[in-house]
Amino acid sequence: MDTPICDYVKKYSESYYSRLHMPGHKGKNMIGPENIDITEIEGADTLFHADGIIKKSEENASLLFKSGATFYSTYGSTHCIASMVTIAQNVAKSDGVSELTCKKIIALRNVHKAFINNCAMLDLDVEWIFPDKNNDSICQCNVSVERIEEVLKSTDAFALYITSPDYLGNVADIQTISKLCHDNGKLLLVDNAHGAYLAFLKESLHPIALGADMCNDSAHKTLPVLTGGAYLHLSKEIAGKCSNVKDIMSLYASTSPSYVIMQSLDMCNKYLEESFRNDIIKTGKKVKELEDYIRNLGFETIGNEDLKITVYTGKSGIDGNTFADVLREHKAECEFSDNNFVVLMFSPFNDDIDYIRVKNAADSIKATIKHEEILVKKESAQSIFVPKKVMTIRQAVFSPSRKVNVDEAAGKICGMTVVSCPPAIPVVVSGELINEKMIPLFKNNGIENINIVDCED
Ligand SMILES: Cc1ncc(COP(=O)(O)O)c(C=O)c1O
Repeated sequence: MDTPICDYVKKYSESYYSRLHMPGHKGKNMIGPENIDITEIEGADTLFHADGIIKKSEENASLLFKSGATFYSTYGSTHCIASMVTIAQNVAKSDGVSELTCKKIIALRNVHKAFINNCAMLDLDVEWIFPDKNNDSICQCNVSVERIEEVLKSTDAFALYITSPDYLGNVADIQTISKLCHDNGKLLLVDNAHGAYLAFLKESLHPIALGADMCNDSAHKTLPVLTGGAYLHLSKEIAGKCSNVKDIMSLYASTSPSYVIMQSLDMCNKYLEESFRNDIIKTGKKVKELEDYIRNLGFETIGNEDLKITVYTGKSGIDGNTFADVLREHKAECEFSDNNFVVLMFSPFNDDIDYIRVKNAADSIKATIKHEEILVKKESAQSIFVPKKVMTIRQAVFSPSRKVNVDEAAGKICGMTVVSCPPAIPVVVSGELINEKMIPLFKNNGIENINIVDCED
């Protein structure tokens, strides 16, 4: 597969042209990548009006992901999520869906904050689907497809928005959910930030292959792409209906996207075509072996993702943050931990030593806990409480607000949504009433101060 963006920049950087254009480093080294960090010069195309090398590279990506159309972002899934929801609303409107219905979207509660920010921008009302039962983490939202169907049937909304895979590695049944959405006249939008690699499994589990209308993938999360590199994928049907994707993406972006990140996305196409499929089979086996090893020590793991291990430490009476500290003592850094879980992400670029360090850390944790402690579950402080909606997300986000300590927040309305990052998933959403039971949940998620709407007492 060709790499038109990389080829162009290489040629330019080797031509020693006098750089009488931005950026100010003029290709001279300050931290390393300056020589290939260019801007929209003659022949370099423009991300949001692409008709040259960027368009060609995006078409390569679309072929690889088998999408109707694929668009690059250098601002991560955050940018693609905002664009995706806006495009979906536009498509619904042009399909004749009423203005009122186009103001409402259904979403499973474990959304990334980017979605809430976009609801504020578009003044969307969200019909939240909360987990069927307490699921010990704000990162997952386990609901049956029957529940989803019930809500789809009873709610006037233009789309369903779900996060799959979620932060803990749970992959939803997109095939069934997409059929339910379409049977009920709704679009399916998937936050697939953690699942770009799913398109390259023996049988694709990518949302677009399984019937989603659109999805965002953070290329940088699971593929060898620089931080910020992401894709917005459209199904064939949506691609045929929407000709202003780039204009919408430009609403939420800078006019100076990073050519270094675009080169990274471009080069990734070549790797995806040439060796990624074989590489992830090998990596998947190693990850499975490591997961079995951890389970054999008595730990429970959850999730059904091939390249992620989520240890449910809470089930063994161990704080996930303690588990993460022991990993650090063994020179391994996890993706995420909280009081119940530790998340480990792998790719073909991990070395054997990485797996050995995790084994050693798990051994040492096992050695320090008494056998009878294992499987004695600690009282969980991650229960989900269904909050009362007092004002719209937009009203709350754009109201005057002030920061208070979470201990003083009960009875107040949440202003701008505050999240800990990672996982950037809210305990309470803008416009909802904060109640006492949420306070431990904030604290467990590292949130000490929260914005409240400054309208009462
Ligand atoms: C589920 C999910 N969606 C969206 C995002 C935002 O992705 P990005 O960092 O690529 O903007 C994240 C980031 O961690 C995420 O976990």
